[in-house]
Amino acid sequence: MNSNKTWSGRFGEPVSELVKKYTGSIDFDKRLAEWDIQGSLAHAQMLHRAGVLSDEDTAAIRQGMEEILAEIAAGKMAWSLDLEDVHMNIERRLTDKIGDAGKRLHTGRSRNDQVATDIRLWLRDQISIIRSLIRDLQTALIELAEQHADTVMPGFTHLQVAQPVSFGHHMLAYVEMLGRDDERMADCRGRVNRMPLGAAALAGTTYPIRREITAEILGFEQICQNSLDAVSDRDFAVEFAAAASLVMVHLSRLSEELILWMSPRFAFIDIADRFCTGSSIMPQKKNPDVPELVRGKSGRVIGHLIGLITLMKSQPLAYNKDNQEDKEPLFDTVDTLIDTLRIYADMMRGVTVKPENMRAAVMQGFATATDLADYLVKKGMPFRDSHEVVAQAVRHADQSGADLSELPLEVLQGFSSLISDDVYQVLTPEGSLAARNHLGGTAPEQVRFQAERWRRLLEKAV
Ligand code: ARG
Repeated sequence: MNSNKTWSGRFGEPVSELVKKYTGSIDFDKRLAEWDIQGSLAHAQMLHRAGVLSDEDTAAIRQGMEEILAEIAAGKMAWSLDLEDVHMNIERRLTDKIGDAGKRLHTGRSRNDQVATDIRLWLRDQISIIRSLIRDLQTALIELAEQHADTVMPGFTHLQVAQPVSFGHHMLAYVEMLGRDDERMADCRGRVNRMPLGAAALAGTTYPIRREITAEILGFEQICQNSLDAVSDRDFAVEFAAAASLVMVHLSRLSEELILWMSPRFAFIDIADRFCTGSSIMPQKKNPDVPELVRGKSGRVIGHLIGLITLMKSQPLAYNKDNQEDKEPLFDTVDTLIDTLRIYADMMRGVTVKPENMRAAVMQGFATATDLADYLVKKGMPFRDSHEVVAQAVRHADQSGADLSELPLEVLQGFSSLISDDVYQVLTPEGSLAARNHLGGTAPEQVRFQAERWRRLLEKAV
């Protein structure tokens, strides 16, 4: 007969080995064990208070589960594919230990509401870890912003030199993105933190269960209000994968910039050796492997988002075995995101900034051309005309191999008589930066203000 006695009673022949492997989930869902036991203990306690489980049985379940937890922690639990998944492995171990009391644990419950509860319990813990890692990375970026509020670098649009910006301002752009990522995680956690337990297989149960008791023990903020929905939807997982994908996309963009900036053509920064590798053939090479892999791994996480949302598409209510496929993408999303955030904060703290090279690059792209146009406007020229005058000046400077700020006053005055010697204040990158002194602008004063604002926000968050 089939070795899985939990449900094989009605079957006339054992499940084939291949099917057992194909349908089993123990290889990957055993990592839910700790949360599965949390859920079971709360369920037992609730059944006890509802008068369904006796004092002795409840005590035996608690004792047995504690032993099982210790066995798992010590690596002594023997997981068996014959028992299909984490839920039945633990239940069987419990029954081996305490007999009939173990068999009573599953009263008023199904693996369908059990597994949905486990994933939610697990995921809400992971989100809390992820949120604190996001905040640590933000702190590393804020540290750089504070050190480099006055460091000028070329700001780019279309990857062409556009206008000077503060390197600190550039770092704080990512602090903003990560701030929204953190908000999304917090928001998503609220919807993860709702309890399906009590839905049983799909329709609820005939026992006098008290779901508010289980929810309180487990720290759920809400209780799923429809049993069919409770066991079947994984929208919370899709939503989490979308939030995770956005974090990875933000870090992929920063990675692309770090890779460019580390190239000798830019030479804006250096990444500490411990985050790079060499080449087996080219002795001179130092490759930015970590940012490259982050860029690559963003594809993997986005793939999981697509996988999860596709998993839900067209599933009829209520639970279907399809849902077992939610775990591997979800686990890998969490693992990838946690490792990435950890390594990233470390890596940013090991970045060396090269302000001289950044400044030299600003001096090569006529980055203050807009400043000159604005200068002429302030002296009374209409903007469209000043745009044309500056274009002429840039053309001249380009031909003579000089920056606008390096052209003699007489030459500049040849383009417009409105120009006088105060023009040099706006033509330097430092002057250009300082002039953008409004909320959200790149002036060093604003950068320091924003860094300070973020510091206070992050302090409040802990
Ligand atoms: N391993 C299953 C899963 O991950 C547990 C629930 C199985 N329920 C069932 N009726 N086969 O979804």
